[in-house]
Amino acid sequence: MHKSRRFAILAERDINKETYVEPWPEAGLAVTDSPYDPQPDLRIVDGLVVAMDGRTRADFDALDLFITEHSLDLDVAEEAMNTPSIEIARMLADIHISREAVHRLVVGCTPAKLCDIIRHMSVLEMMMGLAKMRIRRTPANQAHVTNWREHPALLAADAAEAALRGFAEVETTVRVARNAPLNALAVLVGTQTGRGGVLTQCAVEEALGLRLAMKGLTSYAETLSVYGTEQVFVDGDDTPWSKAFLASAYASRGIKVRFTSGTGSEALMGQAEQKSMLYLEARCLLVTRGAGSQGVQNGSISCIALPEALPGGVRAVLAENLLASMLGLEVASGNDALASHSAIRKSAKLMLQFIPGTDFIFSGYSAVPKRDNLFGGGNFDAEDFDDYNILQRDMQVDGGLRPISEDEALAVRRQGALAIQAVYRALDFPPLNDEEIEAAVIAHSSDDMPVRDLIGDLAAADRFLSSDTGMLGIVEALNAAGFDQTARHILEMGRQRVAGDYLQPSAIFDRNFHVQSAINDPNDYCGPGTGYRLEGSRWEEIQQVPQAKSPREFIDANIGEPLKNLTEIGPAGRGAQPEVVVAVGPAFGTALTRTINGLEHEDVLKAILTGIAAEGLVARVIKVYHSADCAAIGHVGARLSGSGIGIGLQSRGTTVIQKRDLAPLNNLELFPQSPSLTLETYEAIGRNAARYAKGMPTVPVSVKIDNGARLRLIVKTTLLHRRETDEVDPNQPPVELYFDWEPA
Ligand code: 5AD
Ligand code: CA
Repeated sequence: MHKSRRFAILAERDINKETYVEPWPEAGLAVTDSPYDPQPDLRIVDGLVVAMDGRTRADFDALDLFITEHSLDLDVAEEAMNTPSIEIARMLADIHISREAVHRLVVGCTPAKLCDIIRHMSVLEMMMGLAKMRIRRTPANQAHVTNWREHPALLAADAAEAALRGFAEVETTVRVARNAPLNALAVLVGTQTGRGGVLTQCAVEEALGLRLAMKGLTSYAETLSVYGTEQVFVDGDDTPWSKAFLASAYASRGIKVRFTSGTGSEALMGQAEQKSMLYLEARCLLVTRGAGSQGVQNGSISCIALPEALPGGVRAVLAENLLASMLGLEVASGNDALASHSAIRKSAKLMLQFIPGTDFIFSGYSAVPKRDNLFGGGNFDAEDFDDYNILQRDMQVDGGLRPISEDEALAVRRQGALAIQAVYRALDFPPLNDEEIEAAVIAHSSDDMPVRDLIGDLAAADRFLSSDTGMLGIVEALNAAGFDQTARHILEMGRQRVAGDYLQPSAIFDRNFHVQSAINDPNDYCGPGTGYRLEGSRWEEIQQVPQAKSPREFIDANIGEPLKNLTEIGPAGRGAQPEVVVAVGPAFGTALTRTINGLEHEDVLKAILTGIAAEGLVARVIKVYHSADCAAIGHVGARLSGSGIGIGLQSRGTTVIQKRDLAPLNNLELFPQSPSLTLETYEAIGRNAARYAKGMPTVPVSVKIDNGARLRLIVKTTLLHRRETDEVDPNQPPVELYFDWEPA
């Protein structure tokens, strides 16, 4: 229990729902620099590595052996190991040094040496490094599409929307393993409806994953997990060699392969051997490179909450992304699993990958609601789409997505759902009825979907998997039902598989079905003016958020018929009687007729005059033409007033009570928050001005404070003020107005 109210409130904040723990290197709970991490060293005798990172060959474990035999480039190893780590760290941050120059050297570095380089780097320097070392020039993004009901129409609709939103890869998985073929099918049909060329994946057990891919239902595989200690490999019934073999099996069938690793997995599995998470990850990355995988999904991935519980955890996760790109691997840089309750913390962490850009900024942005995400909840979900689009627009950063309109979304979801309905019909699966299609089109989540008979679907899934029907059968079904474009896209995915170009490092398809990879789109970042730049039509597209209005729309609501009962009667002179002069801005009642919060100018003026009359004083109304500034307008009113008290009123509603002998920027009462002013306030302002004129003690008018008003209304304020400024004529003296009104 807290004594302090402040600490009690802080305790309730999202950031305090997380777990934080002090480092314990013996248990593997240290993100970098465990005291048990080895010092970098490498000894080569006659082309054979005889010692590495504190171990001689006789003591090598499977990973050491694999790394020395298949990963380390021994031609540069001596040079690399003899280059001071700080020098390599500086090369990473130095815009004058190319990606190739760094890459050439670091492939000769041992795991401990790689960590030693990172030791010298701040997150900012690592971000610079990542911007340079990312292997594909154009950044991209991957989505997760699942739903807990495993509803095929919803999967297809969500996949179609994800494709339209710009994701280059879409990954699905299962709640019930036997559903895998149908989920993979729905996501294939959905994505290829949204945009041809989106790569798809179904994360399931390896043998099944390979079967789905060979059936043509998926085009990449990413869950080839590797770990940094031998014992975890053994527990998983694997070795670096078996992973390499599996990778070849996929690649030989034209399926893109990406390994998975990341800090924390070894500690989580109780086999960290007292080493730091980053050191073990460096070993994973060298195994990945040695196994011939073109890329990796890393950045802690499913273990992210563990490094984030430790000091320096988020920095270490950036370090693993950087290490992978240094080794020439395509990087899908995490940000997928739920990492924080705090919107501030999760966004801050994202920036480390979002700003430099990676091959896939998310290795799974949850393109569905959190509850529908069968990967354990996404760190960013469908509910965050607009936030994400705005971040891209704010920073002129390409995060791989684009804003879409509601109509576009509905149309593509309908196409996707209808296409999977047609395939189900043709393949004699339990039918998807029209009610289910309609629900999928407008749905946000599983909760919006009718219940299906799981038994029937699972039986169909089993039949489908064991049947000969594959990609071509699906193409035929779509063609026959008139879904030509989806059919053509799926057929093209098959053709591309034969061509195999998308097995190049970091390959994706662009919107024209052209392969874009580290080979034909290599990252050439070398400082300002180089590398990928968000510009041209892509920047246009990111700017076009449906929320953005034309400036005109902001002021249209404030322009009505000019006031008929407010007429100019001649030059305004100085009065002699006890009065209050109400001075209005140049657009008042003419170019503009309503205040910022929609009060009619006529009603505002009436309210002020009513207040003045209630105190028994007369009022004169004048219009100021030479200035649109509230203080200047009020000051003119005060100067011309017989009592020396004037009210300045801008057309947007901002008001001041002014006294003749005060400096223009000093005043009796100022009401800068025009959106908070009501007719009652204006009447009170009139009353107070009259009391000042009579020399009476006066309590300032209290106004509700709305700290959000400026944030909400600054654009409107700017545009209304500009409209008023347009009416300014510096040479025109104040004009006396006649206001024909009756007290209410
Ligand atoms: N290291 C290795 N594999 C991981 N996965 C998730 N996080 C890690 C990690 N840190 C794997 C899971 C699953 C897929 C989602 O990625 O084991 O196969
Ligand atoms: Ca993924």
